[in-house]
Amino acid sequence: MLPNFPAQVPEGLAPKNRTVEMNDTLYQYLVAHSVRETDLLTRLRKETAQYHMSRMQLSPEVGQFLALLVKLMSPKKLLEIGVFTGYSTLSIAQAMNKDAKLIALEKKQMWLDIANRYIDEAGLCDQVQTICGKALESLQPFVEFESESFDFIFIDADKANLIEYYHQCKQLLRKGGCMAIDNTLWWGNVANTSFTDKDTNIVRQLNTLVHQDDTVDVSLLSIGDGLTLVRKK
Ligand SMILES: C[S@@+](CC[C@H](N)C(=O)[O-])C[C@H]1O[C@@H](n2cnc3c(N)ncnc32)[C@H](O)[C@@H]1O
Repeated sequence: MLPNFPAQVPEGLAPKNRTVEMNDTLYQYLVAHSVRETDLLTRLRKETAQYHMSRMQLSPEVGQFLALLVKLMSPKKLLEIGVFTGYSTLSIAQAMNKDAKLIALEKKQMWLDIANRYIDEAGLCDQVQTICGKALESLQPFVEFESESFDFIFIDADKANLIEYYHQCKQLLRKGGCMAIDNTLWWGNVANTSFTDKDTNIVRQLNTLVHQDDTVDVSLLSIGDGLTLVRKK
């Protein structure tokens, strides 16, 4: 599939109004003046750093942004796809009200063992249910019996199933509910025609799909690896 860009840029959009370019120095400034990581999250990040997959971990500023969203929205029923060692799970869960519940899906038990340890330490076992298995399979009973009931959903798993996650999660969201999708700028590769691999093309496909979906409000934020926020109309 050919990359579907350059997309139409709204006429008259002045380049001077564009999102600021992020170099290392500015990024360090941003983190130093924004991120307030809890001790538990810092420990989790350090423990995860020993694995060569640690690059998969959510960046602290995105974790904190998700936590802020959760505090602003006070969702009661939350879903996450792609736990890894639990950085996003913990960021979200620590921000939830006491009556909120998070269901978190992950296919690898070895990552859940780490995540569950931190969830336990945070005293959040009663509020967070982790489910081990392929997400599309784990989602089935929710899609069948709990449609339009989730207030907040975070998608951060494999790209192969991304489009299907989007459709199913939209079905699970209540009207007015919010979905956040990570990696939607995909290391910047989405806008580079020399990348024609499967995952990059799927992320491009998702971005086009969401942009053209008039059943949702949308914003693609240039934070972390790109974070798309969707509100179901
Ligand atoms: C980018 S990482 C998630 C990072 C995590 N949100 C964090 O904050 O650290 C993606 C995770 O999705 C999991 N995953 C990949 N394919 C999956 C699938 N089909 N079902 C469930 N989990 C899957 C991977 O094992 C990996 O842990």
